[in-house]
Amino acid sequence: MTAALPYANGLLHLGHLAGAYLPADIYVRYQRAKKRDILFLCGSDEHGVAITVTAEKEKITPQAVVDRYHSLNKASFEEFGMSFDNYSRTSLPLHHKTSQEFFAEFHRRGVLKEKEEQQLYCEKDKMFLADRYVEGTCPNCKYPEARGDQCENCGTWLNQTELIEPKCKICGTTPIVRTTSHWYFPLGQFQTRLEAYIKERSERDGWKENVLRYCASWFKEGLQDRAVTRDLSWGVPVPVAGYESKVLYVWFDAVLGYISSGKEWAGRTPNPDAWKDFWLGPDTKYVAFIGKDNVVFHCIVFPAMLMAWNDAGREQYVLPENVPANEFLNFEGQKFSKSRGWGIDLQNFLNHFPADPLRYTLAVNLPESRDSDFYMKDFQARTNNELADILGNFINRTLAFTEKNFGGKVPAAGTLSERDREMIRTIAEAPGTVGGLYERYKFRDGVIESMNLARAANKYFNDSQPWKTLKADPGQCATTLNICLQVVRSLAIIYEPVIPAIALRMWGTLGLEGTPSAAGWESAAALGLQSGHQLNKAEILVAKIEDEAIDPIVKSLSEPPVQEVPKQAPEVKPLITLDDFKKVELKLAKVIAAERVPKSEKLLKIQVEIGSEKRQVVAGIAQHYKPEDLVGKLIVVVANLQPAKLMGQESQGMLLAATDSAGKLAVLTVADSLESGAPIK
Ligand code: 2FM
Ligand code: ZN
Repeated sequence: MTAALPYANGLLHLGHLAGAYLPADIYVRYQRAKKRDILFLCGSDEHGVAITVTAEKEKITPQAVVDRYHSLNKASFEEFGMSFDNYSRTSLPLHHKTSQEFFAEFHRRGVLKEKEEQQLYCEKDKMFLADRYVEGTCPNCKYPEARGDQCENCGTWLNQTELIEPKCKICGTTPIVRTTSHWYFPLGQFQTRLEAYIKERSERDGWKENVLRYCASWFKEGLQDRAVTRDLSWGVPVPVAGYESKVLYVWFDAVLGYISSGKEWAGRTPNPDAWKDFWLGPDTKYVAFIGKDNVVFHCIVFPAMLMAWNDAGREQYVLPENVPANEFLNFEGQKFSKSRGWGIDLQNFLNHFPADPLRYTLAVNLPESRDSDFYMKDFQARTNNELADILGNFINRTLAFTEKNFGGKVPAAGTLSERDREMIRTIAEAPGTVGGLYERYKFRDGVIESMNLARAANKYFNDSQPWKTLKADPGQCATTLNICLQVVRSLAIIYEPVIPAIALRMWGTLGLEGTPSAAGWESAAALGLQSGHQLNKAEILVAKIEDEAIDPIVKSLSEPPVQEVPKQAPEVKPLITLDDFKKVELKLAKVIAAERVPKSEKLLKIQVEIGSEKRQVVAGIAQHYKPEDLVGKLIVVVANLQPAKLMGQESQGMLLAATDSAGKLAVLTVADSLESGAPIK
């Protein structure tokens, strides 16, 4: 299984989760409980123009951009409960190698064609304006912000020279047209085979209507050759002479990121070839989870690339058996938008609320066949009225009753009434019913069906009235509670794919070892608890969400958009080379005198000795040090800094000091008695 590699150019938001990641994780967790041999791969998509544009805006390297978002998104995914076997990144050398192998193979076999083409070139920035570097009006729908490669509004793939009034994204000037050459992948040659492939797979595994519709419209238009190289410096270098200043098109390498992620995973196992069991396994069922904007790349471009590789007759890669793409999720009635600051990012959400209620609410609102909505009030209502009041309440009352009246041990069941048998039948059918929906990628229905089970269980508890039978018919009371506890166990297994953390706590409350999924999906149908089994204490499994927790978030949404750079992002400076570092001449200096700079609260004027040389350094440390405290100390100075004047005082160097987040400052000193002037390396 794969889930789309998110761009390491921004934070994940709830729309991403609803589009691809949550359905993928539910599916994978379900399949693991079915004891199928699963490999679940994902990672960060770290190339592409959007990333270089961010880097330029923030004046840092593209690597620093992707380092930041890769680690933030990876951590948020973990907290959300995504159970990836590997979360890779496409800036890894391993991935560059994989992509270059594919390109080189296609190049060597003559699959690719080289063509000269007209491209927009910015004379001011001295570069070709690939993809998002140029914007203009879409010739098809007249949308004014169409990008060079595609119009976001109508979805048309554009040839950038067709843009009306193109503008350079960096400097805003009008680019000129220049000739450049690129390698093209002959997508058109694959059309017949692609159509047959999709027909066959969709008949076999039931592809979604929305996905088939998108594919049909691409085929109707007729597939064209696609350039797979770009005039850019950030990306996978093109392994062909003469292309030193170019890289592979981001979508060429991104889809291959799934394969690299498998290789990286295998590298951590005892068998570095283990990825082949999946990617090259003749009996592998490969399912690619994505959002609707990725359909063409996963149903057409990637399969065509794999076909082209397989045509050599050597390794045979598996093609997607299904690509269950979802539509979009809106937030409070509007589209998620990074530029307009609309929506809430995943980490921000998780800083306020636990993951499982979010997973549940997203699951019952998944945009499986059309766009859907997420409302904070709905999140609150689903959490309180369904997770807490139906599921949580059933579990809690069952355990509390058993604790109080049966000493916390599973009571033995006696003769079964029709009502008891009905409840047992319901639970016996549940794994098949819910599992059948999951197998057909109907996650929303599967989760709704799961909640219906908890409803049925609550009703069973109510109708059985154990608080009455406790005295009147103790045997029946024991039977009721035995069955209720069996149902709690089954629910833990059935709910594990959607709310894994709560399910695990349910399991623990029952005093069971291991995990619900290890017990196996089918075992949810069985009465798995022995009578006499000791349970743990009842605990509140789902905390209710108060208005006070929701309202500020809803209110903050009507306020001006938040800044684009996330607060929690650590400040990441671009990487430098050793040579860059060596440009800084650091030396030990001995303080021989220090005094305050008149009329300045902050500055101290310090006389230092650097070997035989004497210098004056002015430093903003007067609020932290008395002049006399510094005298005699060995400190670190930057000796080759251009002199500067501070409050009329010449400073011939800079001393090093650290300031913490509370504003406390300490000058770096060396305790050992070394000679002043000693170089620091
Ligand atoms: O739409 C996106 O976020 C892309 N980064 C998805 C890439 S999926 C795969 F091709 F890597
Ligand atoms: Zn420009």
